[in-house]
Amino acid sequence: MTELAAAMARLGTESAFEVLARAKALEDQGRDIINLGIGQPDFKTPDHIVEAAVKALRDGHHGYTPAQGISELRQAVAADIAKRRGVEVSPDNILVVPGGKVTMFFAMLMFGEAGAEIIYPNPGFPIYESAINFSGAKAVPMPLFEETGFSFNAEEVLGLITPRTRLIILNSPANPTSGVVPRAEIERLVEGLDAHPNVHILSDEIYARMLYDGLEHVSLLEFESIRDRVILLDGWSKTYAMTGWRLGYGVWPAALIDAATRLAINCHSCVNAPSQFAGLAALEGPQDAVQAMVANFDKRRAVINDALNSLPGITCTGSAGAFYAFANITGTGMGSMEFQEKFLNEAGVATISGTSFGKFGEGYVRFSFANSTENIKTALGRIRECL
Ligand SMILES: Cc1ncc(COP(=O)(O)O)c(C=O)c1O
Repeated sequence: MTELAAAMARLGTESAFEVLARAKALEDQGRDIINLGIGQPDFKTPDHIVEAAVKALRDGHHGYTPAQGISELRQAVAADIAKRRGVEVSPDNILVVPGGKVTMFFAMLMFGEAGAEIIYPNPGFPIYESAINFSGAKAVPMPLFEETGFSFNAEEVLGLITPRTRLIILNSPANPTSGVVPRAEIERLVEGLDAHPNVHILSDEIYARMLYDGLEHVSLLEFESIRDRVILLDGWSKTYAMTGWRLGYGVWPAALIDAATRLAINCHSCVNAPSQFAGLAALEGPQDAVQAMVANFDKRRAVINDALNSLPGITCTGSAGAFYAFANITGTGMGSMEFQEKFLNEAGVATISGTSFGKFGEGYVRFSFANSTENIKTALGRIRECL
């Protein structure tokens, strides 16, 4: 019998990929499926970014690059952080990785082990809980509630800290809730962290450029008192519609960057060179495509919110950031998974059950509005007919 490491039994998954595969299989059978499940922009990567990758290949960038990433790219990331977050970071502290997920996984490998505790948002990106469990650490949920805009209460988060806590994961703007944590709450948390100098923070800010209603992004890197224990996770996937390029970065405290780089060398060596040149063009080139995409999401946000709230038994408080509507479906009398299955099979609409994001996601379903307004309207119309 094949014997796997025990940790494999603790490794979870990201259901969005499973739903995507099932939606594709249904399409192959001739069904017309509208996918409101997957979390990726439905836009193409802007042309100048694609061209930079093609040029890099033509110019002969076919080999390994430094494990941390090419220095021009790390300098551009540092300049972007200075511009958008108002914080000076050294390119030496940046590790370019194949996608946002890698920074997350490395943080878990670095801090997680039996006996350690890691606090994570729930409902939250499913890989947090999965990777914590894999590491052997205890996954301690930070419950997020609709009543408080899926933000957290700093005192409650601080109350979850024990002498075994090594890492707190924060994600604002958030997947799947689209919640945004207000500055005042972050400030209270940062203040409280003074009493816990050994606790590190992984701040997943991958949706930092996707905010609505004039909301400002608050980066955990802004706070001097904790800067030596904040790991910033960001990347190109969402901002520049580059999910398939596999490009992300982490900003690691000086004490951790060597360990993170060692993990990279052991794991993937470096990110493929053309993606890195594409990432450079993305940061240094025109940003109008990003603005246009976010403006487009903003319009669809209103469409999906109105449509969801007009359905019997469904309410949605609206999305503050990212491109998801996290709808409360308790009034339908269905469970979240039942809802996901029913509407995929009967209406041909792919959504993701809130339970895929943790136990506090029961009663909710995530609808991605990274799809055309027409498709969103059709999908919600089909759901109405089947309700
Ligand atoms: C909150 C959050 N963090 C990280 C990621 C991972 O991004 P990437 O595709 O760059 O690995 C995602 C992707 O959906 C996400 O929603």
